[in-house]
Amino acid sequence: MKSLVLAGGSGTRLRPITHTSAKQLVPVGNKPVLFYGLEAIAATGITEVGIVVGDTADEIEKAVGDGSQFGIQVTYIRQESPLGLAHAVLIARDFLGDEDFLMYLGDNFIVGGIADVVDEFREDRPDAQVLLTRVPDPSRFGVAELDAAGQVLKLEEKPRQPKSDLALVGVYLFTPAIHRAVRAVKASWRGELEITDAIQWLIDERLRVRSTTITGYWKDTGNVDDMLEANRTVLETLVPGIKGETDDATQIIGRVRIEAGAVVRGSRIVGPAVVGAGTVVIDSYLGPFTSVSENCHIEDSEIEYSIILADSSIRGVHRVEASLVGRSVEVTPAPRVRAAHRLVLGDYSKVQISS
Ligand code: DAU
Repeated sequence: MKSLVLAGGSGTRLRPITHTSAKQLVPVGNKPVLFYGLEAIAATGITEVGIVVGDTADEIEKAVGDGSQFGIQVTYIRQESPLGLAHAVLIARDFLGDEDFLMYLGDNFIVGGIADVVDEFREDRPDAQVLLTRVPDPSRFGVAELDAAGQVLKLEEKPRQPKSDLALVGVYLFTPAIHRAVRAVKASWRGELEITDAIQWLIDERLRVRSTTITGYWKDTGNVDDMLEANRTVLETLVPGIKGETDDATQIIGRVRIEAGAVVRGSRIVGPAVVGAGTVVIDSYLGPFTSVSENCHIEDSEIEYSIILADSSIRGVHRVEASLVGRSVEVTPAPRVRAAHRLVLGDYSKVQISS
């Protein structure tokens, strides 16, 4: 069995972060979201993994390499533009050959792994197997309608009037039957070849599509709120450890990890929180559920329930909450004019200012 991981796409809902970097590499608990998926795949025993990449190919390849850090062998498959999840299967045909495969969306975050579901599939071997979970906002997802026996009757992509609250999770198991289906479907209203339509095609052809409803934690990290929530979940189980330097004037409360090479002085850190290697925190407060990546500078500031990406500096800011700050960002108070905000923001930035 092989695996196909989708790490292309454009990530419009995470702009402006995704203007310059891949959404699958935004870190939760200071580790790229994609890495959790690759670890989960490795834990199923699958070693041959194809990763579909788009415009951000270089960055993904630099981070994942040949896959040996995860115990897998990675083949990169270039998708010229994000024409849909079924299109990704179409272009991966040579890599997949005639083997069964596990398809994993690179921006999905699942706690508890997928080994049990993969074992189930291997034993029962339906033509396809989908994972479902109950969500409060089904119209953001692919939605399944089941019969009384739990058999999948119908799948619909982002329906205006969802027939159930069962969303498709971004993990799918396929036999080679899917290859006929992805060739048969036409582009949807959003111009994409939808995997949801391809699975519906299998159902219409009376092939067996099995579903498993999962109850564990799952997030599609496509937007900032979901990203912060996934970060919170990871930090709940953080292994604490103070490897960096702290001084006597620093107070550390609860589950906190300070990586080697980080320096914390005169600060209060209330866990769960993580401070990346090479980051300096001076006279500041870091509150619960905060991940600060590598080589940041936090001084005379307060930050809570936020993710700060590498090489950024936040100085003299009281206070930052529920925020996702990109790489190499500078946040400082406006000089002299105390009541004014001075902004230099990239396209599609979002700022909420307390007034
Ligand atoms: O997260 C679960 C949802 O994922 C399902 O409920 C939906 O049925 C499914 O269509 C998908 O919906 P999204 O609109 O969230 O998919 P998104 O465009 O975010 O793409 C998912 C991943 O696949 C992401 O890592 C980007 C990558 N991708 C996407 C497209 C459209 C590609 O590699 N190539 C593509 O052409």
